Amino acid sequence: MSDSSFPGSRQQWLDSEESLRVRLRQELLRRQLEAHLRGRRGTVLDLGAGQGHKSLELAERGHTVVAAEPDDDMRAVLHERIAAAAPEVRDRITVSPAGFGALVAFADRRFDAVLALGVLMYLPSGTAAVAEAAELVAPGGILAIAVRLDVSAVWRPARLQDWPAALVALEQWEQARAGGSDLRYTNEIGAPARADSFDRLVAAASDAGLHLEQWYGIRIAYDLADDEPAPPTEAAELETLIAVEERLGAMDPFRQLGQLAHLVFRRPA
Ligand SMILES: C[S@@+](CC[C@H](N)C(=O)[O-])C[C@H]1O[C@@H](n2cnc3c(N)ncnc32)[C@H](O)[C@@H]1O
Repeated sequence: MSDSSFPGSRQQWLDSEESLRVRLRQELLRRQLEAHLRGRRGTVLDLGAGQGHKSLELAERGHTVVAAEPDDDMRAVLHERIAAAAPEVRDRITVSPAGFGALVAFADRRFDAVLALGVLMYLPSGTAAVAEAAELVAPGGILAIAVRLDVSAVWRPARLQDWPAALVALEQWEQARAGGSDLRYTNEIGAPARADSFDRLVAAASDAGLHLEQWYGIRIAYDLADDEPAPPTEAAELETLIAVEERLGAMDPFRQLGQLAHLVFRRPA
């Protein structure tokens, strides 16, 4: 697998799958993507598909999906999940071991939607990844990325009232900006990760011919799994939490502080 800081935290990612933190992320991403896919069925390339949440969801909705996952162990889980799906869903998914740094595997193909959700923070460069993925977007198609923004990475330790860590993060951000590099941090599953500058991502997409259609913050008010008070368990309460997060995540200034930022770019038709 190419240069990635993910494998050491693979098990933590899989173990967190049922947490409210991750379920909230997956549900908000689902709703947001749905709006940009405009109800049309098309071809999807899910880069860093993981255990296949979005690949399966979109195949269930009738899209034809390539689930690309370079990590051998994660790809084994992906195969298991696909095998457990309904035959018509299974038949709409192809699995590929290709990943960022090796997307030449798809050089002769273009997709209506290219996804890289929760992947860029493990790669050496977000802008290089955007340029590479943008090449594969068909005219009229979208590139959807879910990343950690630097403003959010700096804000988070302060939000958790870890003052020494917050001061270190602020100092590291200043140094990174002065040196023109990206901010580094350790994420919720313990992986060394990289935060992106919003402006640099948008510029990289623009250089590749894509414009920013919309962007969202994900998990703004809801943060840790062990937050107090305890997270809701009743369906109606949970629905209210999702509604609040959905609305905060679609407007400034709140969306800037989401733990994830979901940027949707489109290539003109
Ligand atoms: C946090 S998981 C996200 C999985 C999935 N996209 C989701 O949102 O549920 C990150 C995934 O990125 C994958 N990944 C890491 N390096 C990659 C690379 N160079 N190219 C593509 N995927 C990569 C990991 O193997 C892992 O499956």
